Amino acid sequence: MKIFKKRDQLKSFLEESKKNKKTIGFVPTMGALHRGHLFLIEQAKKKNDLTVASIFVNPTQFNNQEDLDNYPKTLEKDIELLESVSCDVLFVPTIAEIYHKNVVSNKFDFDGLEHEMEGKYRAGHFDGVGTIVKTLFEIVSPKNAYFGEKDFQQLQIIKKLVAKNQLPISIKGCAIYREKDGLAMSSRNARLSSEQRKVAPIIYKVLKKVKKKFLEETEGEISEWVENQFKNHPFLQLEYFTIADEKSLKPINIKEFDKKYRAFIAVFAGNIRLIDNIQLKN
Ligand code: PAJ
Repeated sequence: MKIFKKRDQLKSFLEESKKNKKTIGFVPTMGALHRGHLFLIEQAKKKNDLTVASIFVNPTQFNNQEDLDNYPKTLEKDIELLESVSCDVLFVPTIAEIYHKNVVSNKFDFDGLEHEMEGKYRAGHFDGVGTIVKTLFEIVSPKNAYFGEKDFQQLQIIKKLVAKNQLPISIKGCAIYREKDGLAMSSRNARLSSEQRKVAPIIYKVLKKVKKKFLEETEGEISEWVENQFKNHPFLQLEYFTIADEKSLKPINIKEFDKKYRAFIAVFAGNIRLIDNIQLKN
């Protein structure tokens, strides 16, 4: 695997590959890699001549300094994991390489997608995500870019970013990769205490039950039930639970049979924030 720290060097290497008609698949990450990330790399490998991953803990998308400071960093192990799935290229820029001296995000209008769910609880988060992903897209200019449904709102926002800027990039959404007990894989899982880790699979159990309930209960009844599952829980606090339209991400009003819905949840285990979601059937 070739490793680049400088954007110009990566750019000229990739331009050479493009001249040779090689297609590029891109997987941006913040490192602390797990099977979910590697799954995205494997999808990229299948459909592209050259797979590029990036590892960059993007400061402007963190609305909480403590979360940024505690974000796990495991570069040596990440490189081994990327090599184990034959990733071709890794880009690991420094903060200065991306932002120069101005570590701020640009403002984006994602037609309201940015104001729902995560947007309500993480001020400025999606401006940070938009800034870094747009910058990385400019550097790598891939044919295909791969994002996980684990961060479903982010996936929809990236699709919007590409559409609004008319970028010639195809955004591929990949299913959520889970631990055996159902917990969605996340870099933040590494920070859970053993007690927190033990109870965390409840999040997915609740979502699976929600999927069943959605066939016969109202949104109000379901939300109340979900709130009760976390009420007085010793290790988990519910931040939000929403059933929303997959496209607009707006909360469901009355069930419309031509629309697709998803249930979204954010839960705190101590100060570690976990998110998950599930597709529902009408
Ligand atoms: P990060 O959290 O490292 O995730 C990188 C990619 O892996 C994202 O597309 C995310 O949705 C996907 N991913 C994470 N866990 C997953 C799982 N269990 N199953 C499937 N896919 C999973 O998301 C980011 O980084 C950043 O916001 C980024 C897009 C890199 C911009 O900084």
